[in-house]
Amino acid sequence: MENIKVVTKGVCGTVSRDAIEALAPEGNAALETLLSGSGAGNDFLGWVRLPLEITDEHLNDINETAARLRECCDTVVAIGIGGSYLGAKAVIEALSGSFSAYEPTKTRVLFAGQNIGEDYLAELQAYLKDKQFGIIVISKSGTTTEPAIAFRILKEQLEAQVGHDEAVRRIVAVTDEKRGALRTLATAEGYKTYIIPDNVGGRFSVLTPVGLLPIAVAGFDIKALVAGAAKLAKETLEGRNAASMEYALTRNALYRAGKKIEILVNYSPKLHFFSEWWKQLYGESEGKDNKGIFPASVDNTTDLHSMGQWIQEGERIIFETVISVEKVAHELRIPADADNLDGLNYIAGKRVDEVNKMAELGTRIAHIDGGVPNMQVIIPSINPETLGELIYFFEAAVGLSGYLLGVNPFNQPGVEAYKRNMFALLEKPGYEKETEAIRAKL
Ligand code: PA5
Repeated sequence: MENIKVVTKGVCGTVSRDAIEALAPEGNAALETLLSGSGAGNDFLGWVRLPLEITDEHLNDINETAARLRECCDTVVAIGIGGSYLGAKAVIEALSGSFSAYEPTKTRVLFAGQNIGEDYLAELQAYLKDKQFGIIVISKSGTTTEPAIAFRILKEQLEAQVGHDEAVRRIVAVTDEKRGALRTLATAEGYKTYIIPDNVGGRFSVLTPVGLLPIAVAGFDIKALVAGAAKLAKETLEGRNAASMEYALTRNALYRAGKKIEILVNYSPKLHFFSEWWKQLYGESEGKDNKGIFPASVDNTTDLHSMGQWIQEGERIIFETVISVEKVAHELRIPADADNLDGLNYIAGKRVDEVNKMAELGTRIAHIDGGVPNMQVIIPSINPETLGELIYFFEAAVGLSGYLLGVNPFNQPGVEAYKRNMFALLEKPGYEKETEAIRAKL
């Protein structure tokens, strides 16, 4: 398999090659900190070696559970939020057919607990009414409100539809080994469980059962996914992961040159949720201590017709990282037309992907000319192995990048603020003081 390539020529109008290379000593120090486990957040470095430590036995066990769920269920609802949701969603969307949601399929994976939308849950309930469904409930802390609400509602529905004992067979919990309400509930009910290792944070957990089980249920090759990540993990541990280093150095050089927003750009609709996963990984890892590049994303060429104007001519505080996919899965050519009333005969015979690639190149050049530095992350194609490598590429880079930025990339203290207010407003026992304080503000 070919490696991911990072091309940074398009940033040179803003930061020179010398400026990027000047950061190399800091990058090497960040790598040393990461690999020696001597930096902030070092109790959450399990992801670094994770792909190399996953055994075949573990993957077989996940595949067996997935096969059992596929056997009895036409629909499996994966309940989780943040890191307990986005990795599985990203990989499943990237590997699924664009219209698979409208096609008959063996087992469909749906998601819940990633919002508190009453309509979403009510409509999901209605959809599941005549389905043979199962549940994978995922929460590392085991106490997160959004998935807890969804699980309470869907568990009750499942028990009503198939009875308590069959519901127990169809529910799998992925959570902490010992702590949290979900662990207590799973033990009390006797659910099959998988453990999220203590030293792997939520947003780094896609290669644990958090991501692997839903991905396997959706019918995708988790062994290839892990193999792709393992390849880059090995290179990282041997100090040979030049791609993640290049990306981390370049984005920090750009940040220091005043580029505060990074837009991750794709030209394949299948990568929409990969960008959502990336946004969480980078936003939660770097946005702290009043620092950090703001991670944004666009899906092109769709968003060239909405955000394109801003990117071309808005405030010059942005840079772009384009995920370029070298080879698409299908071959489709634009037909010739005798009348040529639409004027498209100049591209007749060309592949749709060639037009897409010219749109990509034309946009990159236009944005560079317009003062938007551009990087490219090139992957050979979208498949389980390259996605595994891409996941690890971005994980390794955010570890390096966070240390270059001078933050702890592995905590997320800021996500607690809204929870405190929500609990106070909902009058959760134990939050009486906060309830009083927040009422005074209203
Ligand atoms: O990356 C993180 O740690 C968070 O985004 C969590 O994944 C998210 O808050 C969900 O937490 P939990 O898995 O504990 O329910």
